[in-house]
Amino acid sequence: MLVLGIETSCDETGLALLDDGLGLLAHAVHSQVDMHRAYGGVVPELASRDHIRRVLPLLDQVLVQAGRRASEIDAIAVTIGPGLIGALLVGASIAHGLGAALGRPVVGVHHLEGHLLSPLLARPAPSFPFVALLVSGGHTQLLHVRAVGAYRLLGDTVDDAAGEAFDKAARLLGLGYPGGPAVSRLAEFGTPGAVTMPRPMLHSGDLTFSFSGLKTAVLTAVRKIDSTCDQARADLARGFVDAVVDVLAAKSMQALKECTANTLVVAGGVGANAQLRERLAVDSSRHNTQVFFPPPELCTDNGAMIAMAGLARLQRGAVDPRRSFTVYPRWTLAEASA
Ligand code: KG4
Ligand code: ZN
Repeated sequence: MLVLGIETSCDETGLALLDDGLGLLAHAVHSQVDMHRAYGGVVPELASRDHIRRVLPLLDQVLVQAGRRASEIDAIAVTIGPGLIGALLVGASIAHGLGAALGRPVVGVHHLEGHLLSPLLARPAPSFPFVALLVSGGHTQLLHVRAVGAYRLLGDTVDDAAGEAFDKAARLLGLGYPGGPAVSRLAEFGTPGAVTMPRPMLHSGDLTFSFSGLKTAVLTAVRKIDSTCDQARADLARGFVDAVVDVLAAKSMQALKECTANTLVVAGGVGANAQLRERLAVDSSRHNTQVFFPPPELCTDNGAMIAMAGLARLQRGAVDPRRSFTVYPRWTLAEASA
């Protein structure tokens, strides 16, 4: 079965072709980062208009890459929430248009379920059940995943998401938008321990996160340093990254223990972070557990993860028979669970 995945929920247009036997045949992403940079964040109307321009050329691109024709597509998976309503509508319109033209089913996919199942694109793929650390621009969650569609929320952030904290720290350090990769690169040059930041909720005893205080700590520290000194900025970035990574790693290990699970899966944009990947690899081998990451380019938004989640739903026969055109800008993963 050949599944086309379409992702347009925010500022990346992602298209992919996934075959149930052969795996990922092609994927292409257009990032709108350069367009939104001037505004310091995503401008929803600009995002929708750009998705309109990009989807069909990217579709042609993945078809050529995969050496397939549109008529060979068996099903179309599209992100229908959560996300920016205009951006979601672009993907949904094109998916339903194609579905009607080709006479193929359209599967609406929850964006976070896409992230959550993206490690299944890796070889070897993790097997169920596992604990998932979902760390993106809008979410920081630990989930127990028993099977496709069976997700139990173990812990969530009470305020900012980890990616949001990275983006805000970047802005305070004058690194622009988007911040995660830039803060991570700057931190590489920082001296560990030179700047110590608080580890919010580290000893809370539960799996709750909180990152907004860390942003305040970065603000206070930025005011104290000589902003023209590269080493001082790098040390601060290092202090920030180490604090975030410490909390994420400790709570992930705690979640594995609480669920008596031995597989951790990391997903979402912050999952591309080199320091987090390194740390989780060390901690999990110490705890005799396995950790799975999607390839870094599949951690951030992409069509491949949507095709994967769509395929998983199709294999369970869980396709909305109404072929509903609705999109859901606010939609929790619990509501998408079986
Ligand atoms: O999953 P994603 O692409 O979009 C959402 O669904 O939110 O995640 C984007 C977030 C942004 O906050 C970005 O700064 C962060 O992921 N991010 C990173 C890295 N790459 C992306 N954060 C830390 N280190 C990275 N290398
Ligand atoms: Zn995402």
